[in-house]
Amino acid sequence: MEQTLSIIKPDAVAKNVVGKILSRFEEAGLRIAVTKKIQLSQADAEAFYAVHSERPFFGDLVEFMISGPVIVTVLEGEDAMAKNRDLMGATNPKEAAAGTIRADFAESIDANAVHGSDSVENATDEINFFFAQREIC
Ligand code: CMP
Repeated sequence: MEQTLSIIKPDAVAKNVVGKILSRFEEAGLRIAVTKKIQLSQADAEAFYAVHSERPFFGDLVEFMISGPVIVTVLEGEDAMAKNRDLMGATNPKEAAAGTIRADFAESIDANAVHGSDSVENATDEINFFFAQREIC
């Protein structure tokens, strides 16, 4: 069974739509293998998004991701990575298809409600960043 990582970002947590977003995953047939609410440190956010460290938006991205708690979740199911990306919609909510999480809950490309792994390989690394194997069940 494929696994992928989801982060519900500080904007969606502050809007109190965590349950609504987790329901969308379950309604699409994805299973929550583990979930937790955490406050990322600056070092956490810089390490998690290290692949973007040279991009002009890196500083704003890190600042936003530490602006409040996030919900990190391992989703499991057939084609979990692609399914989660379909549910999220485009990175920029202005381009996200109607009915997707970002179209419904996000305000801007920075405050875009959710993150999801963009490949199965990255999903493994991202899951290991947040969770020990024994927590995923
Ligand atoms: P996420 O899927 O978490 O991956 C990196 C994040 O950087 C992305 O969502 C956006 O929230 C943010 N970001 C800000 N500007 C851009 C941009 N121009 N291109 C891609 N991501 C951006």
